[in-house]
Amino acid sequence: MRSVVRAPRLWRRHGLAKAVVVGAALVTVGLTYAVLVPNGAAGADGPQSQKIEEGRRLFAVGCSSCHGLNADGGSNGEGRMAGPSLVGVGAAAVDFQVSTGRMPAVQPGAQVPQKPPVYTPEEIEALAAYVGSLGPGPAVPAEEAYDVSNATQEEVVRGGELFRTNCTACHNFAGRGGALPHGRYAPSLMETTPRNIYQAMLTGPQQMPVFSDQVLVPEDKRAIIAYLVSLQESNDPGGFGLGRLGPVSEGLWGWLVGIGLLVAVAVWIGAKVPRVGGRNGQTKD
Ligand code: HEC
Ligand code: HEC
Repeated sequence: MRSVVRAPRLWRRHGLAKAVVVGAALVTVGLTYAVLVPNGAAGADGPQSQKIEEGRRLFAVGCSSCHGLNADGGSNGEGRMAGPSLVGVGAAAVDFQVSTGRMPAVQPGAQVPQKPPVYTPEEIEALAAYVGSLGPGPAVPAEEAYDVSNATQEEVVRGGELFRTNCTACHNFAGRGGALPHGRYAPSLMETTPRNIYQAMLTGPQQMPVFSDQVLVPEDKRAIIAYLVSLQESNDPGGFGLGRLGPVSEGLWGWLVGIGLLVAVAVWIGAKVPRVGGRNGQTKD
């Protein structure tokens, strides 16, 4: 009995009653808001904007030193490598650059090399969401766009034709890559993923031209990916590819191995004959 009477007095004395009333009012307003505001228009607290916020934070720490705090390009300070503005490069460019370990760049050079990725897939997604939010640019493609697990043989053949028309000038007809002027190079395409083939075409890293969806429609891109995946899978059945240089390297190997074997046999026979003779001589003695 006594406690029931005393509790409210205690509350009043500590201003707790007020707090409870305000709290209840806040909860009511919050719930009403959640019910009334349609899904997806939740604004500042939506999962996408949380991702963008997370990306902005990661960017400030790991990328802004070169690309600027607002990703609008860094100036070339003392000994610092400037990064280009990323406004409008799109989420796909970030996904490509960071998942292949090219970004964050470490030292200046003719071309930023690939290395094991520094960020987790979730962090890459956040960075991509942030840069994607800065201006219109190619989005990370949906998986259907580059999934070629059920590609037909015709698609692979058509992809080969498109590849020879558009890509072999730099990447070599077997996708093995090649050197470019000024110490730059087009990398081999034997290790890359379907997603990054698509994104490389969409964003045109460095010396590579952009193959927009107007130039190579999505079906063409898919065909090229199907062709490259079939090349990766048939990666030299039955031995070494010898650089896929054809008769030249095959001839060289034929020469080295063939002549080498002949020489070895000749030496072996040559070494055997005197020994036999010597032993004969000994038994005679
Ligand atoms: C040490 C400096 C440096 C750091 C750190 C750095 N970048 Fe870069 N970034 C560059 C340079 C230089 C280029 C241009 C590279 C080239 O042309 O090959 C570039 C290019 C890029 C591109 C390609 C732009 C385009 O036009 O396609 C993207 C995307 C990118 N950076 C994102 C990032 C992200 C995200 C981070 C942080 C995780 C980051 N960079 C960290 C220097 C840097
Ligand atoms: C003018 C030369 C050129 C042409 C044409 C070209 N590329 Fe590239 N490509 C490059 C260069 C240079 C790079 C490396 C960029 C870098 O390191 O930043 C590259 C990178 C790539 C990568 C990334 C590889 C990796 O390991 O991360 C892929 C995939 C790719 N190219 C596919 C293609 C396809 C498919 C085509 C044809 C539709 C094509 N390229 C046409 C020059 C070219």
